[in-house]
Amino acid sequence: MKPAPKTFAVKSFGCQMNVYDGERMAELMTAEGMIPTADANDADLVVLNTCHIRERATEKVFSDIGRLRKHGRAPMIAVAGCVAQAEGEEIVRRAKVDVVVGPQAYHNLPRLVAEAVAGTAALDTDMPAASKFGALPARRKVGPSAFLTVQEGCDKFCTYCVVPYTRGAEVSRPFAAIVDEAKALVDAGAREITLLGQNVNAWTDGDGRGLHDLIRTLDRIPGLARIRYTTSHPNDMAQGLIDAHRDVESLMPFLHLPVQAGSDRVLKAMNRSHSRDSYLRLLDRVRAARPDIALSGDFIVGFPGETDAEFEETIRLVNEVGYAQAFSFKYSPRPGTPAADIADHIPEEVMSARLQQLQGALNRDQLAFNEASVGRTCEVLIEREGKLPGQMLGKSPWLQSVLLSGAHKIGDLISVCLTHAGPNSLTAIFNPASPTKTSC
Ligand code: 5AD
Ligand code: SF4
Repeated sequence: MKPAPKTFAVKSFGCQMNVYDGERMAELMTAEGMIPTADANDADLVVLNTCHIRERATEKVFSDIGRLRKHGRAPMIAVAGCVAQAEGEEIVRRAKVDVVVGPQAYHNLPRLVAEAVAGTAALDTDMPAASKFGALPARRKVGPSAFLTVQEGCDKFCTYCVVPYTRGAEVSRPFAAIVDEAKALVDAGAREITLLGQNVNAWTDGDGRGLHDLIRTLDRIPGLARIRYTTSHPNDMAQGLIDAHRDVESLMPFLHLPVQAGSDRVLKAMNRSHSRDSYLRLLDRVRAARPDIALSGDFIVGFPGETDAEFEETIRLVNEVGYAQAFSFKYSPRPGTPAADIADHIPEEVMSARLQQLQGALNRDQLAFNEASVGRTCEVLIEREGKLPGQMLGKSPWLQSVLLSGAHKIGDLISVCLTHAGPNSLTAIFNPASPTKTSC
């Protein structure tokens, strides 16, 4: 028998869904009477909510475990998230952690902790048919911008990606459960909700309703000012969702639509099931519906066999689109994925040079997008205090970070004039003029 943990900390790595899952695990343990600590080093139980998408994520988990066990401390350690799902038994064997719990089983965390206290190694990486969501406590207190998972898993099987294996098949949460959670989030302080899913725009109620129907329903919740969603797949970008960008005022003008590469041969080898041209034409339709939309994407450089000329097609695509922001990565072979078996690996230094060139182009476009915003009026949702005294930090409709000073409170939605642009943020002044005026 070990002593039962009284305090806990959750450390989340990786994507926004892990942040959401981390919050829900914290709520679950709080409901069990445990107390959160600000510093993981002070906690009796540390939950490492891990990411497996790239690189040596497993090694990172082992070094984190080593760090937590330094100085003779021996907190109870639970490994959650996608590394737990993919490498659970290996983690128990090598690091003798107390609990391993996969992303679809974390509602069982209290039981698993109790089993660990009783001395049994507790591992649960099941993907049960019944959703974990029903077993989680209600949302109580959240910040002005909250996440809400509506869809999980992926059936696309891009050849480089572990997600279909770690998060399982595409599953949509029921319409009513999502609406109830959205209302609870608004009651708990949220003014903006970002709907989350590995393929969020594949959400369906199974009866013909899609993400845009959900968005139109959420739009009617009093007090909910802003709706966002991420991450989308080009093939699930229904016309109804594009129309929602034209019609629904609370749906923010921002679209994260990963493309990964600009060459049709590479896209095919990635099993992306869209072409360079179909992606670009899709963006034309989105921009026709919402001309000011800010576009974002994900890119992988150095996919096995990618030639210089193929990489240049990615650069040309970036130049053509003009992204407002983007994420770009070196290809990282993931165990068990088809691409990991392709022999033609790109040397590290070639990948580094390509990434640098790509990021140069993306940074240039991000700055240009920010500079083009100067002189616009818009609303900013205040999310937190800035680094300087009296400074507040919020988000524009286009997901830009905006700094401003004044007596504004966290959660305020205020009308501003954007005055200066930098690569990663803008500054603004309070603009009491009519928000219908678009420039100042
Ligand atoms: N290597 C590099 N990047 C990857 N991504 C997914 N799998 C890999 C991989 N094996 C990137 C993709 C995806 C984002 C979440 O992570 O760009 O859209
Ligand atoms: Fe991974 Fe592709 Fe699914 Fe995105 S669509 S989660 S990149 S397999």
